[in-house]
Amino acid sequence: MYVLGIETSCDETAAAVVESGERLLSNIVASQLKTHFPYGGVVPELASREHLRAIVPVVRRALEQAKLSYADLGAIAVTKGPGLVGSLLVGLTFAKGLALSLRIPLIAVNHIEGHIHAVVLEEKQHGREVAFPALALVVSGGHTHMFLVEQPEPFRYTYRLISKTRDDAAGEAFDKVAKLLGFGYPGGPIIDRLAPFGDPSQVKLPSTRMKGNELDLSFSGLKTAVLRYVRSADMDEEIKMRKQTFSSGPVKDIEAIRAVTSQQTLDLVASFQQTVIDELLSRALKAADKEPVQSIIVSGGVAANAGLRRRFSSIRYPFYFPTLALSTDNAAMIAAAGYPHLLRGERSDFSVKAQPSLAL
Ligand code: KG4
Ligand code: ZN
Repeated sequence: MYVLGIETSCDETAAAVVESGERLLSNIVASQLKTHFPYGGVVPELASREHLRAIVPVVRRALEQAKLSYADLGAIAVTKGPGLVGSLLVGLTFAKGLALSLRIPLIAVNHIEGHIHAVVLEEKQHGREVAFPALALVVSGGHTHMFLVEQPEPFRYTYRLISKTRDDAAGEAFDKVAKLLGFGYPGGPIIDRLAPFGDPSQVKLPSTRMKGNELDLSFSGLKTAVLRYVRSADMDEEIKMRKQTFSSGPVKDIEAIRAVTSQQTLDLVASFQQTVIDELLSRALKAADKEPVQSIIVSGGVAANAGLRRRFSSIRYPFYFPTLALSTDNAAMIAAAGYPHLLRGERSDFSVKAQPSLAL
């Protein structure tokens, strides 16, 4: 069965075709980076407008890349939440209209379940299966959650929330710290590329100890510690200069970024990234020791982080990361997550609503 996935929960308009939940035939993502960059973050009204512009060509390209026509589709899977309501509505409304006119089933999918299934899809593509029960660490700009994922029978998955962030998501912390240091938006990829040039031992940043659920996470204290360091180290001039460099748009050339970044800032960036990774890794390992898990799944935008991937390579649990294209928001993961629901005969009717705060 060819499932068309549609994802518009935040600032990427995405469509993909996945065959039988295991073969990726196309994966198209239209980024809105240029639109939001001048504002240093996603502007919800602009995001919905851009989704409206992109949705038709993006879906068309996903079908072209898969060498399929609308008539070949067996079902449509679309993100219903969590996310920005105006953004979700574009994908959801489009998916409803298309499913209705093609007379094929519609399944509305939770975006976080999608991130987890990015890994399931990745493994299936290589003829492998994720070892369940698994601990899933979903780390993105909007979420930092850990779930116990079980597979009581083929094509049925259950999710139990084990811990979450009490304040900022990990990706949000990357973005806020990058903005504070004048690196533009989104911050994660830039910090990730700069971190290897710094010495994390040169700047001490605090780790957090949680009251209550010790597996919970928190990143707002870390962000404040970075801010305090910036103030005490008198970095204002350098930050101003860097903002100038980034004023006309995203800068890809790492040498150009390094040219406006002092060693002290590189050390701070390295220390920040190391602290975030330590926090994520220590909580994930603690949770894995407590629960009956066979493996650890890491997904969401922050799973693209090279430092995080490196650190996981030395743990004692089997672990899985999606490829970079499946780590950040995409529609292949939505098609893959929808497939088991469809196989079990689940359908969404056309009254299904966008759910901005949907939990898994
Ligand atoms: O999953 P995603 O594309 O969208 C949400 O559902 O939020 O995640 C985007 C987030 C952003 O905060 C971005 O800074 C972060 O993922 N991110 C990274 C990296 N690539 C993207 N964070 C750290 N290192 C990266 N390489
Ligand atoms: Zn996401």
